[in-house]
Amino acid sequence: MTNETPRRTFAIISHPDAGKTTLTEKLLLLGGGIRSAGTVKGKKSGKFATSDWMEIEKQRGISVTSSVMQLIYNDIQINILDTPGHEDFSEDTYRTLTAVDTAVMVIDSVKGIEAQTLKLFKVCRMRGIPILTFINKLDREGKEPLDLLAEIEEVLEMETYPMNWPIGMGKTLRGIYSIPDEKIELYNDSHEREIVPYSEQKVLQSFEKEKLEEDIMLLEEAGNEFTMEKVQNGQLTPVFFGSALSSFGVQSFLDNFVKLAAEPQPRKASGELVDPDSDTFTGFIFKIQANMNPNHRDRIAFFRVCSGKFERGMEVMLSRTGKKMKLSQSHSFFASDRETVDTAMPGDIIGLYDSGNFEVGDTLVSGNERIVYEEMPQFPPERFAKIMAKNALKHKQYHKGLSQLVQEGTIQLYKTPYFEDFIIGAVGELQFQVFEYRMKNEYNVDIEFTHLTHELARWVTKGEVTDKMLDSRKMHVHDQQGRSVILFENEFTLRYFQDKYPDLGLSTGWELL
Ligand code: G4P
Repeated sequence: MTNETPRRTFAIISHPDAGKTTLTEKLLLLGGGIRSAGTVKGKKSGKFATSDWMEIEKQRGISVTSSVMQLIYNDIQINILDTPGHEDFSEDTYRTLTAVDTAVMVIDSVKGIEAQTLKLFKVCRMRGIPILTFINKLDREGKEPLDLLAEIEEVLEMETYPMNWPIGMGKTLRGIYSIPDEKIELYNDSHEREIVPYSEQKVLQSFEKEKLEEDIMLLEEAGNEFTMEKVQNGQLTPVFFGSALSSFGVQSFLDNFVKLAAEPQPRKASGELVDPDSDTFTGFIFKIQANMNPNHRDRIAFFRVCSGKFERGMEVMLSRTGKKMKLSQSHSFFASDRETVDTAMPGDIIGLYDSGNFEVGDTLVSGNERIVYEEMPQFPPERFAKIMAKNALKHKQYHKGLSQLVQEGTIQLYKTPYFEDFIIGAVGELQFQVFEYRMKNEYNVDIEFTHLTHELARWVTKGEVTDKMLDSRKMHVHDQQGRSVILFENEFTLRYFQDKYPDLGLSTGWELL
């Protein structure tokens, strides 16, 4: 690959088990981006996803952290950002989505849209990025294709446009009909692609042809109009049917993906759009991870190049502080394998060695203009716990682990005003477990948790919090930046409080969800 190779950067969003990992593996195989088949995945086979770095992921068979993969297809470099499927890790997924230009939504044809897909979709929708839909598991008895389209339109409030159409499903799956070029890709056990023009096919029975022609006619009459503009601004999702497990429909999906996915887009920084072609090198950090690989005990900041050209060793400025630094240690990722990266272009994700300078959301620029990319969305935590090190003598490791894991964005940290007790907040219980596990394994500290009954956090935007406003149902804490936050037990407590103190301004931090 060269610097001139066009880039397409995307992430797959899906509900756990919809087939994200299987599809990723098949895409990588097509692009020659993977070294041996079956290394991305295999919960039962004992092999693990390339993206499953952490022991805990292996134990649970879920993907906790996001990794970055690359493949070259039709002379295009495709960067795939893996996202954790488990809903407790949505915050990590949301951040990852800020670094991509396109999202691929994988839907299980048997289950349709599930809660997780819906939440994640909102984030893509907010960003107005193209969303391509892959309806998976066509080899199973799933929902009617027309019902699935209707479901996407209703639940996700976006137009759909099927690019291909299934002929049968489950045991009666015969193939998919490609709508734009009127060809059929036949389904067979051999995994060999067999494509014939519809007009020349001799395999479909008359009832299968009738059903297909009826469906296509209906789609032509009642379906949406396809325009590239609607795809590019996220108003219409092109829909593909297939079966990732049998590699069926995956290549035609990829052929279309390279045509439909957005190229690296201009992005807003300090109120202005920065063009990727600009000479100034800019980008932002969307994730920090410590101890990613036990062989490299260090921290890596995941950096999205937005404009200009990255060259190893270049001097950049950290916009938040104005501090200048040399970027001499940079990596590309193939899950835990690292290769040194010498140059990178807009759309690329590189790993920067971090000795404690970076925070999630940081912008780096060449030159002296301190522009800042739009803030990372913060997902309001819903679970809180007071924490302590079981062994008080380990306070040094305890503080080190705590500060590193907080900087990674794994959990959020608060302090109570007088006693300065540490409270951690997370979106889901699993994040606490990962935190506990990592504190023990990476920092050798056992943590004692006291779970709190509070479920809502509100940032105080106006007025002063006084002691008389508080009781056991409402707790006053300070966040990492020293801002006042009140933790409420539930919606009812919050409403009662708001009625009583209408002059106090409260905000969720991030209004969307
Ligand atoms: P995820 O990353 O979205 O969580 O899903 P993943 O790819 O792990 O797939 C979840 C399960 O669905 C896996 O089965 C996988 O083999 C299966 N699957 C994926 N694509 C298809 C498909 O097109 N058709 C069918 N029938 N199944 C599919 P598993 O039994 O949980 O795991 P494994 O033992 O196969 O690894």
